[in-house]
Amino acid sequence: MSVDLKSRYLGLELANPIVASASPLTGSVDSLKRLQDAGVGAVVLPSLFEEQIEHEEMATHNLMLYGSEVSPEASSFFPEMRSYETGTAKYLKLVGDARKSLSVPVIASLNGYTTGGWTRIAKQCEEAGAHAIELNVYFLAADPADSATAVEQRYLDLVASVRAATRVPVAVKVAPYFSAMASMAVRLVKAGASGLVLFNRFVQPDIMLDELEVAPHLVLSTSDELRLALRWIAILHGRIEASLAATGGAHTPEDVLKLLLAGADCVMVASSLLRLGPQHVGTLVRGVEAWMSERDYESVTQMKGSLSQQSCPDPDAFERANYMKALKSYTSEFA
Ligand SMILES: Cc1cc2nc3c(=O)[nH]c(=O)nc-3n(C[C@H](O)[C@H](O)[C@H](O)COP(=O)(O)O)c2cc1C
Repeated sequence: MSVDLKSRYLGLELANPIVASASPLTGSVDSLKRLQDAGVGAVVLPSLFEEQIEHEEMATHNLMLYGSEVSPEASSFFPEMRSYETGTAKYLKLVGDARKSLSVPVIASLNGYTTGGWTRIAKQCEEAGAHAIELNVYFLAADPADSATAVEQRYLDLVASVRAATRVPVAVKVAPYFSAMASMAVRLVKAGASGLVLFNRFVQPDIMLDELEVAPHLVLSTSDELRLALRWIAILHGRIEASLAATGGAHTPEDVLKLLLAGADCVMVASSLLRLGPQHVGTLVRGVEAWMSERDYESVTQMKGSLSQQSCPDPDAFERANYMKALKSYTSEFA
């Protein structure tokens, strides 16, 4: 029996729910084409960072100030300066080239943490051809003077600011560290998010004992990390008016199936593709299709969310009630 793998994400039709998450693999047109050939449903480009945009604007501003001191016509240089190959210009070119070269939806990614002029770039991504924007809010509330309310408001203002800058859908990639994740999810949607990408994976620093230095430590994920997104996708499915994307720990067809059963509209993958190459997309798509076919599922739409918290036989399994059961079930030969 043929299985209909189509899924809708941010109002876009995906041929299947596997999406290449932002990573170096989505940073060139060649690599993007390989992902498309392998069967990916959509791609998210690597992030353009707020710091990059702000830094360039500052440099341009300083150059103009300096120029205006030497020549009254200096400000007329400005239009030409726009065509310089800055990080932003390169990024917009990647968006445009990706849009022209691919038939799958292209999602541009912006990474920031403050509201401000930089969010105008969302419009330029749209004009360059992005089907949607993923806003990665990468912020750690490390200042003891920063209250939870203030931090949450900053997220909401940022989402509203990017939402106002563009007409294409905006998905928000967030960290899981909110006191009230479900409420925050609803508020992010009210602020203008058409989708939530759960979750941002912070690069955790480590201490190098030999060098006595602190260094960022980027490790690729394993399937064990999957369950954080699994829980929250299952809890939020059917409760918010927005798409849900899962990211973090999806490596095998089984991982993808679990996230779809929990209620994900798409499953984003980065580590597994970095480890196994773009062709791994094909393994995931075929594996999902085979499993669904064996169990007589007709479509992803039919299967999606059938084990979400609202639909599963044991809703408590997603909350505290199962904690005691889980602890009691642990056995060790030493205990
Ligand atoms: C080398 C590398 C680069 C990444 N770059 C970005 C990025 O630019 N923007 C972003 O939102 N996420 C970025 N990510 C995070 C991934 O998109 C993804 O959310 C995360 O790795 C969890 O998914 P995974 O378990 O499939 O790897 C990056 C991840 C890796 C490993």
